[in-house]
Amino acid sequence: MALLEINDLMVLYGEIEALRGVSLKVDAGQVVTLLGSNGAGKSTTLRAISGLAKPRAGEILFDGRSIMGLGPEAIVRLGISHVPEGRRVFPGLTVKENIMLGASNRRVGKAALSREADAMFDLFPDIRPFADKLGWTLSGGQLQMVAVARGLMAKPRLLLLDEPSLGLAPVIVQAVFRIIAEIRRDTTVLLVEQNARMGLSVADYGYVLETGRLALGGKPDELWGNEAIRAAYLGGHTKAV
Ligand SMILES: Nc1ncnc2c1ncn2[C@@H]1O[C@H](COP(=O)(O)OP(=O)(O)OP(=O)(O)O)[C@@H](O)[C@H]1O
Ligand SMILES: [Mg+2]
Repeated sequence: MALLEINDLMVLYGEIEALRGVSLKVDAGQVVTLLGSNGAGKSTTLRAISGLAKPRAGEILFDGRSIMGLGPEAIVRLGISHVPEGRRVFPGLTVKENIMLGASNRRVGKAALSREADAMFDLFPDIRPFADKLGWTLSGGQLQMVAVARGLMAKPRLLLLDEPSLGLAPVIVQAVFRIIAEIRRDTTVLLVEQNARMGLSVADYGYVLETGRLALGGKPDELWGNEAIRAAYLGGHTKAV
């Protein structure tokens, strides 16, 4: 049974049909990448799963059970953590406090929480120097690392990552994708990316969204192996992953 299953999902923003019947599956232990151009509905799909967007029709099953109509807090408690687009970090808190906020769905003692947050700095050594500082200034990539670390602190069964590479320098993008490859051992990931090459490099399966509909899905090598698909959806890169 799939950990996440979406059937015929429809989401409207007023008159705009952001999703027009999207169906997809994510099996436990997989990294599944959702590709598509601007406005295709990638973020809306994640927002519907995490309860931030209310679908008009369709179904969303997590572990075989419908989560439609549940609020965002209830969905987080079920084990779904969403790292949204943009890097929301609270400037009045230290970096470590920002990361610890991610565990607010769990009952963990303060000392254990602190140890877990410290362990995040092993995954993200770049932000360790800012751990206990107030008044920090972080680069875009470092803010992204804080956001991903906070998402991981929820110990989610399913992590929804929205464009973790957006606006980052290539070397930071690689670091972020190394981390995604690392966490896949314990966490199932639904990853939204515009960078098809990076997105598929860590994926077990990929879907392409096109103006609110699923254009296609396949294993990364199938998607890359088809020249027409590559040209139409994957930026036309000819290099294999
Ligand atoms: N809050 C909103 N109000 C109205 N329309 C919205 C809203 N959010 C998104 N849309 C519209 O819904 C459609 C899907 O948007 P969505 O943000 O899901 O796309 P996306 O694939 O994540 O794009 P991007 O790559 O630019 O992040 C677009 O047409 C967008 O303009
Ligand atoms: Mg988006």
